[in-house]
Amino acid sequence: MQYNKDLTDALEFVWGEGILSPGGPEEVTQMLEGVDLSGRRVLDIGSGLGGIDVLLAAQHGAAAVVGIDVEPQLIESARHLAARKGLAGRVTFQLVKPGKLPFADASFDVVFSKDSLLHIADKRPLYAELLRVLKPGGWLIAADWLWSEGAAESAVVLAWLSKLQLKFAFTQPADALQALIEAGFAEPRVTDRRHELQEVNRNEVALLAGPVRQKLAAIVGTEMAESRLSSAKGRQAALDSGCLIPCYLRGRRPT
Ligand SMILES: C[S@@+](CC[C@H](N)C(=O)[O-])C[C@H]1O[C@@H](n2cnc3c(N)ncnc32)[C@H](O)[C@@H]1O
Repeated sequence: MQYNKDLTDALEFVWGEGILSPGGPEEVTQMLEGVDLSGRRVLDIGSGLGGIDVLLAAQHGAAAVVGIDVEPQLIESARHLAARKGLAGRVTFQLVKPGKLPFADASFDVVFSKDSLLHIADKRPLYAELLRVLKPGGWLIAADWLWSEGAAESAVVLAWLSKLQLKFAFTQPADALQALIEAGFAEPRVTDRRHELQEVNRNEVALLAGPVRQKLAAIVGTEMAESRLSSAKGRQAALDSGCLIPCYLRGRRPT
């Protein structure tokens, strides 16, 4: 288990109900720019606590959202959240094993993923699966953390990674674009979001170091609260060094 309860409580405290990744609801809206989810069937890869899946249905109009994740305790929490919001019929969750997706070809109008693909090492089979489950004309809309050439040897990046309990499999933007093309995506796009995420991260550091420090420590313990601050500072240094490159990935299944 990578996402234990103290960690998810701390992340949710910062980003909002059921959300484990930077930027919260505003970032989800930004990711979806130009794509209308009304009446659409959406697959969310790495749904975590399910907060984003609730937003995709309740705020962005998706007709059905299926969230998948590899951690059973997250799937359970996500199901409870959807039920609490009265969305259990439209927003469902499925525990999966890494690898082939348990869905028929052309099952979804949109495949969405926020800050989860970086946990999956083998990008080429992953992108092929994402394309396979999309209907012709359907969109892949993902946010992912990538890194620059040489980042694996960067002292700043290594210092940040050494503070984390999570395992990541980064790729470079040019490789991600090539992998999308090779998988067969039309209109492939990798958009560098480092400036926006630098700002988001700066605010996170200020928040964790300032007004909520004691409050978060009271919820998850001093060690976890300090570890979140230290991780946010390390991530800021990695972002500012240019080594860590948060990106949006987009592509479309050809019609
Ligand atoms: C940073 S969290 C993001 C969760 C959610 N997307 C959000 O933004 O709140 C990454 C998620 O990816 C999940 N994950 C890791 N490997 C996965 C895999 N092979 N397939 C699906 N989900 C995976 C983790 O369990 C975790 O819930």
